Amino acid sequence: ADFIRKEPKTVHGYPIVYAFSHNWERIEKFQWRPDDIVIATYPKSGTTWISEVVDMIQNDGDIEKCSRSAITEKVPMLELFVPGLRITGTEALEKMPSPRLIKTHLPVDLIPKDCWKNNCKIIYMARNAKDAAVSYYHFDLMNKLEPYPNSWAEYLEKYMTGKVSYGSWFAHVKSWWDKKKDYPMLYLFYEDMKKNPKKEIEKVMHFLGKNLDEEVLRKIIHHTSFEMMKNNPLLNFTNISSKMMDHDVSSHMRKGIVGDWKNYFTVAQNEIFDAMYEKEMARTTLKFCTEL
Ligand code: PPS
Repeated sequence: ADFIRKEPKTVHGYPIVYAFSHNWERIEKFQWRPDDIVIATYPKSGTTWISEVVDMIQNDGDIEKCSRSAITEKVPMLELFVPGLRITGTEALEKMPSPRLIKTHLPVDLIPKDCWKNNCKIIYMARNAKDAAVSYYHFDLMNKLEPYPNSWAEYLEKYMTGKVSYGSWFAHVKSWWDKKKDYPMLYLFYEDMKKNPKKEIEKVMHFLGKNLDEEVLRKIIHHTSFEMMKNNPLLNFTNISSKMMDHDVSSHMRKGIVGDWKNYFTVAQNEIFDAMYEKEMARTTLKFCTEL
């Protein structure tokens, strides 16, 4: 079909997955509800992980309730649109009962005004730039909705110049961080969640106005651990059609660790990246943990 392995297309100044870039009106016309919970991330930053955590919290740790359907159905992606396969995120969301969980990778500028006006709850999760790059590269090897990444070196160049879908990692994490100044939201880090899942899950729980006891929290931590999620067909993305994803090449639940970038960045690539990082992150209060 004509949406396979296409370069991203520019939508309001940002490169967006070619298939999703069509009929953007559906996103501008989308009816937000005040009790919507939005999970926003730059791709490959722990979206699926935090999504399941949120669903578990909402359902008081009831695994049976949380097994009602696949994560892609429980937390539809707002911008998802594959014309040939009749897959539309907004349509799935319109049919959903409240409170809805909504996934998006959109840069903050592309979030429709009605979302802010409805005071929707927003949880943003960020992951360090280098691990996000490595994870994105592997995902694009299998994701037919993205152009084929070719070599790691070629891919890294595109990533650093913001030519991948959803644009520059730097612009994404910084502009969402800035939004926090005028809109109350929860801004989390993948690395914090790895280090101390209980602490981060408690933050989400308080943000959602829930109060769960220690036993339920323990259950949530166990159910959303990498090993459990990797082996759960409802959470590991193996349900996605092979028309869209080549499951033989890589896996959505690939490694789930901090610091895998060390296995991919050459010394030279790392020096260039660090120099760019320093420049890009010089004027923001946003700080990522340095012990990677
Ligand atoms: S997507 O396609 O953008 O929604 O992908 P996303 O879910 O954001 O990111 C996928 C990466 O998150 C890792 N992951 C986890 N890490 C730790 N614990 C848990 N439970 C978990 N679930 C998913 C997943 O393995 C991808 O990272 P990499 O580095 O590729 O393994």
